Amino acid sequence: MKIIGTGSAHPRLTITNDMLAAFLDTNDEWITTRTGIKQRQIISDERLKDLAIDAAKQAIKKGGIDVHDIDYIICSNVVNEYVTPSLSCIIHDGIDANCPCVDINAACSGFLYGLQIAHSFQRAGVARNILIVCAEEPTRMVDWKDRSTCVLFGDAAGAVLITEGDCMKSMRVTNMSKTDVLYEERKLEPTPYLRRNEDNVPLQMKGQEVFKTAVKASVKDIAHVVEEAGLQIDDIDHFLLHQANLRIIEAVSHLLKQDMSKFPHNVELYGNTSSASIPVLLNEMNMRGELKDGDKIVLSAFGAGFTTGACVIEWHSNQK
Ligand code: ACO
Repeated sequence: MKIIGTGSAHPRLTITNDMLAAFLDTNDEWITTRTGIKQRQIISDERLKDLAIDAAKQAIKKGGIDVHDIDYIICSNVVNEYVTPSLSCIIHDGIDANCPCVDINAACSGFLYGLQIAHSFQRAGVARNILIVCAEEPTRMVDWKDRSTCVLFGDAAGAVLITEGDCMKSMRVTNMSKTDVLYEERKLEPTPYLRRNEDNVPLQMKGQEVFKTAVKASVKDIAHVVEEAGLQIDDIDHFLLHQANLRIIEAVSHLLKQDMSKFPHNVELYGNTSSASIPVLLNEMNMRGELKDGDKIVLSAFGAGFTTGACVIEWHSNQK
C-alpha cells in the first residue's frame, strides 16, 4: 500500500463562532476553549457529491494514473441525500471510472476502515489502484437548536489514491459496544404493517463520555500499532488524529509524551468533518510539502459505534 495522490474539497460558506452566537446561546470563548474550533465550512448551495468528485479528481491527477486504471472505489460516508445509489457509484459516474465501488459507514473512523479494506484487497489480489473518498456532511445530522452538538461540525471531502507498495507498516481497527454515546436515528417510509412509532432523532452525544473513550482508545491504538511496526513512539514524525476536538488531540499528545508540534491540526478551521478530517489534513500537509520521503506517520481516528482505528505508514510519494 502506498499513497500516491491526495485531494480535498470544502464548501464555500465559512461560519465563525460569532456567527453562531447570533442565533444560539453560545460564544466564541466557550467554543474555542472547549474544542479549539474557530470556524467551520458548511454546505449551502453545493452538493456533497460535487465536493467528493472534486477531491477524487485532485487525488487522481496528483497520482498521475489514468482514471480507467483505478480498480476499486471505496467511499466512506455516514449520510448524504442519496439513499441509493451509493455515493461511490455517484463518484464513479462523476469521474468516468470503470470499476467496482462500495460505500462504507464506520462513522469518523471511516478513513482507517477504508485503508484497511483497500490494503486487504491489494494483498488478496482483488485490486491494485484504489481510490478512497471520505465525503461527509455532519451539519445535516445535528439539531441546529442544540448548542452542544451543532457548533462542533463542518462538511468536507478528502480523497487518497493508493497503489501497491510496502508503506503500510501496521494497522488495527476496533469496535466496542457503545452505540448509545453517539447516534442519530431517521424515520423511514411507513408500511401498512409497521407496528411501532418512528421519529427522526438528530445527533445525540454524551460529550464527556465520547471525550474520555476517544482519548483512551486512541492512546491504546497508537501504542499498539507503533509496537507492531517495530518502532518506538519517539520514531514517529507526525501523528494525524481525527480532527474532532483540539483538547482530545492535546490529551493524546500529553499521554504519549510527544510534543504537540508532531500533532498537526486544522480543526480550528473546519470543525469536525467526520471521516474526511484525516485525508483533508493529509492533503494539506502534502500540498505544503510537510511530508518527506521516509517520514513515519500515525493515522488515528474514533467515531460512533464506538469505532476506532490506527495505522503506521511510511511516506513515499511519487506524486506528479
Ligand atoms: N456554548 C455554551 N455553552 C454550552 C455549549 C455551547 N456551544 N454547549 C454546551 N454548553 C454548556 C452546557 O449546557 C453545560 O451547561 P450547564 O453546566 O449549565 O449544564 C456546560 O456548557 C458544560 O457542558 P459539558 O457538556 O459538560 O461541556 P464539556 O466541557 O464536556 O464540553 C464538549 C462539551 C465540547 C462536547 C466535550 O464534551 C467534547 O469535546 N466531547 C467530545 C466530543 C466529540 O469529539 N465528538 C465527536 C466525536 S466522534 C465524531 O467525530 C462524530
